[in-house]
Amino acid sequence: MTQNGSHIEEIDTNRPHPARIYDYLLGGTTNYAVDRQAGDQLAAAAPEVRIGLRANRAFLRRAVRYVVGSGVRQILDIGTGLPTSPNVYETAREAAPDVRVAYVDNDPIVAAHAGTLLGGSGATGVVLADLREPQAIVDHPGIRRVIDFAEPVALLLVAVVHFLTDEDRPEQIVAALRDTLPAGSFLVLSHATGDFADRSAAQAVYHKATASLNLRSRAQVERFFDGFDMVEPGVTQVPFWRPDTPPPARSGEIGFYGGVARTPGAVRVGG
Ligand SMILES: C[S@@+](CC[C@H](N)C(=O)[O-])C[C@H]1O[C@@H](n2cnc3c(N)ncnc32)[C@H](O)[C@@H]1O
Repeated sequence: MTQNGSHIEEIDTNRPHPARIYDYLLGGTTNYAVDRQAGDQLAAAAPEVRIGLRANRAFLRRAVRYVVGSGVRQILDIGTGLPTSPNVYETAREAAPDVRVAYVDNDPIVAAHAGTLLGGSGATGVVLADLREPQAIVDHPGIRRVIDFAEPVALLLVAVVHFLTDEDRPEQIVAALRDTLPAGSFLVLSHATGDFADRSAAQAVYHKATASLNLRSRAQVERFFDGFDMVEPGVTQVPFWRPDTPPPARSGEIGFYGGVARTPGAVRVGG
């Protein structure tokens, strides 16, 4: 939450923002000096961070292709980030041209780049909202315009839940979203961890940022999939989730878990 108690933040160029730090570390240009400084500190504290973020993006693309290949035509991407090519819509469209994508982020700079995310298509929407208010996301007219919750949905929570503190009760938030998903839906989730190296110095970089970094263990990350049926191979470090190329060097050090799971129950056929 911001200091004035609002979950929706103003564009603040004095404090590093997760979306802009991530953009900088991926080689993007939508970032300010404070973000670049934080990104450099992060890379010093966790030398594998850049390959980790690229591996997270590659996981996201493979997972999107997987869920679209499984028949899902609606994607709810919460914690979208700044546009990075190929974005979720571009990846999904390669697999099926009739996919619809709703993007959600609580950083106004992401909404400011909505034009790039939307790509001039009515099949996508961008909503400024906060994961900590899941019902407000589900009820939002901008989401309802794109997503029909009577049909299977792929819920993407990729590299975002670690910005929720334990006090935010992230398990309850994910469960609340899960309960809105019909049979045949998917959860795609990735999450930062300190299981493979001491990452307290990386966490400290976020102390002055607009969101904290909350590293969680494998068992804690697995709990976010409660109530879903895990897709093989379960929760793994992101490079090892159904790789389609040899995992990059130093993949074993990458501090990101990822997994995909499906809502249980019979899949409805037809409309
Ligand atoms: C590290 S980026 C991940 C981007 C993309 N999902 C990916 O994995 O490539 C995290 C994004 O989550 C957003 N975010 C952080 N906390 C959030 C919250 N409580 N609600 C919505 N978005 C949030 C940030 O603004 C940022 O754009």
